[in-house]
Amino acid sequence: MLSAHVQAALNDQINLELASSYAYLAMAAHFEVSALPGMANWMRMQSEEERVHAMRLFDHMIDRGGKVVLQPIEQPMLEFDSPLSVFEAALGHEQAVTEAINSLYRLAEDANDYASQVMLQWFISEQVEEEKNAQTAIEQLRMAGSDASALLMLDQMFGSRAAEPAQRRG
Ligand code: FEO
Repeated sequence: MLSAHVQAALNDQINLELASSYAYLAMAAHFEVSALPGMANWMRMQSEEERVHAMRLFDHMIDRGGKVVLQPIEQPMLEFDSPLSVFEAALGHEQAVTEAINSLYRLAEDANDYASQVMLQWFISEQVEEEKNAQTAIEQLRMAGSDASALLMLDQMFGSRAAEPAQRRG
């Protein structure tokens, strides 16, 4: 049985993951109109992954007899100065998500909610990966600097990111 506190925090986390999906979609749109289709693809894939994250939490709530309460999704950032600033925003966003997951885990611990702790362990590992991916992109963009041909090569590389295989419920 989910405690009221854990349930409320899980609903907030579903909202944050959907807001993440929306934020990455805005970044994809930005890259599409900036003639960087590879980076747009990277952001589309990331947006899709975030939706899958929201669904993992959604399914956990359903499986545990909780009540999913969907909340309004905040409008994401729409304007960016450079490809680097987009990925810096992505890293900042992921760091905030990591904090939120860690607090959620602490809440589940305090509530002796072992099932939620096990489910959240996946998210804790995933956040390490998410932050690393954004950080790597930032370092590569810094190396490219203002060299247009290096930027186009990176765009091609980012374009090869493929969708992760569909993940099962929970
Ligand atoms: Fe689902 Fe990127 O946090």
